[in-house]
Amino acid sequence: MEKKDLDWGKLGFGYIPTDYRFVAHYKAGKWDEGGLTGESTVTMSECAGVIQYAQTCFEGLKAYTTKNGRIVTFRPDLNAERMISSAKRLMIPEVSKEMFLRAVDETVKANAAWVPPYGSGATLYIRPCLFGTGAVIGVAPAPEYEFRVFTTPVGPYFKGGIKPIRLMLSQYDRAAPHGTGDIKAGLNYAMSLYPGHVAHSKGYSENMYLDAATRTNVEETGGANFLFITKDGTVVTPKSHTILPSITRRSLVYIAEHYLGLKVEERVVPFEEVKDFAEAALCGTAAVISPVGAIDYEGGTISIPSGMDDMGPVTRKLRETIVGIQEGEIEAPEGWIREIC
Ligand code: PLP
Ligand code: COI
Repeated sequence: MEKKDLDWGKLGFGYIPTDYRFVAHYKAGKWDEGGLTGESTVTMSECAGVIQYAQTCFEGLKAYTTKNGRIVTFRPDLNAERMISSAKRLMIPEVSKEMFLRAVDETVKANAAWVPPYGSGATLYIRPCLFGTGAVIGVAPAPEYEFRVFTTPVGPYFKGGIKPIRLMLSQYDRAAPHGTGDIKAGLNYAMSLYPGHVAHSKGYSENMYLDAATRTNVEETGGANFLFITKDGTVVTPKSHTILPSITRRSLVYIAEHYLGLKVEERVVPFEEVKDFAEAALCGTAAVISPVGAIDYEGGTISIPSGMDDMGPVTRKLRETIVGIQEGEIEAPEGWIREIC
């Protein structure tokens, strides 16, 4: 199979339509089988649930080319499970784990020519999405839905690759105490656009959000969880019911404990404590592990000791290990890697 002629090393995080996507429809109380199509546009009622009441959720995962030339995905079963919890909360009929995994496998396999080569620094980002297509005018769940899985080749999420980024402490909240912060609802991202614009226009890469109830504890950014490293090498990550349960973070916690022999604390992290950490990073599918060099807040700056030039040693080890597992250089824990072709 011949790869597409792209400058893989120069890709940013943008949408490049690939040849195939998987589409299934929910009608009259059940999902059809679904299948591959070349059609990248969606036609639906002007009164669709997704358009009127933002009834939509999505997932994000990646396909990697391993050292020995295989194409694999990383823990897609956890994305399937998370999409089921998102769907439940938004009154969207669930897509079974079986259909989710089949859709991802088929889409990636059909787009194998778009999976960036090993060592290129790029990956194939997979975006499963689930949305109400049926018409609703009273506030209610839509009668019909579409499940779609498309792919796009991507490079680093943040400009500048893996150089440390600068964050702004947001004046806005990301998620209400008993709201939708722990699911991957499109609405969580719509409401982050304005705070994101404010941060970007001031030169920051992203926002750090605090918990909405007390505004004292670190939550996450618009698209990634946090990891901190204490001066004695302990990994600390915020525990909260209003952040997205990141698959990357859960994997890194395991890697820190079982591969690197580090101590890990999953707990409430007061913003007050951030100035005491030795390293800070964002983690997520898109972000992988992105080091944080500084955080500005009203009235001050926290300069993370690892600095703005390079990532700290523990962040580097975590990053190398997870990428090594994803690219087949380091043996993965049982069930983490799903071989596609
Ligand atoms: N937090 C938010 C708000 C996200 O959008 C993402 C991205 O999916 C993450 C965290 C990281 O989650 P994961 O590691 O499962 O990609
Ligand atoms: C991901 O990491 O997959 C996400 O969905 C984050 C998004 C902000 C691109």
